[in-house]
Amino acid sequence: MNILAKQSFRKGNGAMDILLTGGAGYIGSHTAVELINEGYGVIVADNYSNSSPEVIKRIEGAAGRLAAYDVDAGNEERLQQVFLKHQIDAVVHFAGYKAVGESVQQPLKYYENNLRALIATLKVMKDFRANTIIFSSSATVYGTSQAVPFDEGMDTGCTNPYGWTKLICEQILRDVAKAEEEFTPVILRYFNPVGAHESGLLGENPKGIPNNLMPYIQQVASGKLEKLSIFGNDYDTKDGTGIRDYIHVVDLAKGHVKALQYAQEHRGMEVFNLGTGKGYSVMEVVEAFEQANGVKIPYQITARRKGDVAESYADVSKARNVLGWEAEKTLEQMCRDAWRWENGVRSRLENEQFAI
Ligand code: UFG
Repeated sequence: MNILAKQSFRKGNGAMDILLTGGAGYIGSHTAVELINEGYGVIVADNYSNSSPEVIKRIEGAAGRLAAYDVDAGNEERLQQVFLKHQIDAVVHFAGYKAVGESVQQPLKYYENNLRALIATLKVMKDFRANTIIFSSSATVYGTSQAVPFDEGMDTGCTNPYGWTKLICEQILRDVAKAEEEFTPVILRYFNPVGAHESGLLGENPKGIPNNLMPYIQQVASGKLEKLSIFGNDYDTKDGTGIRDYIHVVDLAKGHVKALQYAQEHRGMEVFNLGTGKGYSVMEVVEAFEQANGVKIPYQITARRKGDVAESYADVSKARNVLGWEAEKTLEQMCRDAWRWENGVRSRLENEQFAI
């Protein structure tokens, strides 16, 4: 085991030591920075399957020291060693595969990995009497047939195995919370995280050709990809293109800090949407990126992508009222930070193929 540190790095009085499974990934790394900035001790367990130990150095460069272990969250024995090494008060569980298309091609890989990672983590937490977990879920659990904005009380349902793993994990957490009074899972349903850290040190580095809109736009802007395909302009939306709730990854990361603070004072399960509550169309994102960065994004209109919904955006009132959290960054900031990242560290990592 690669032990970078043995002691706790927590700072403030009352601050806790938090384990981040998958903490070297895109959202995990940004959350690690926010937690360190708030005085928490951060311990990362990541198997680096879609990231790299290099990310740990970057988190430290942006915020400060942490402990990191090359450990798969699905490996109970290895995870136990991490819990033996640290007094872990809570877990933020990011570990899991996340590519929708790949999950359709390889469903067993997704069910096995994502369910095992959560179940192993919960078993080890139980052994060590850690009762709080913040779980990365997704707006994809709202399915395809409901009216926007999506609120947490709505019915759920999925169209792909990736989404089902999120929904099944939510159900596992709900069942454990029913069985154990002290257990406190906070489920965060992310909308569309984009952007990068202001420092330029952290961002997303998707493998191969990106599936998601913003990384694709970034690579068209840099000339790496020729043009963007806009998947359909015949939706029943303001300009016919799909509408999504894009949220700056740093705002999203701050939502995790609020969720942890909430969990310290409450018992039982809660679910929160993390989005901005505003929907932007694909065309609006393209225009915002062009304007914010003074670049041109050539595009073509193509057929709709299978499984896409016309509109997805959050009702954010619960997170605002209960967590006291609200996204602050604008679409322009998301576009600017994404472009800074694309032009900086990411372009140098071109051949390294990991997400940081
Ligand atoms: N789009 C294009 N061209 C592209 C890529 C995307 O036109 O090359 C469009 C899509 O059709 C959609 C919008 O841009 O209208 C956003 O698409 P993304 O792929 O960026 O995001 P999705 O909303 O499809 O999916 C994301 C995450 C999922 C998560 C879901 C939650 O990728 O993991 O949000 O709603 F489940």
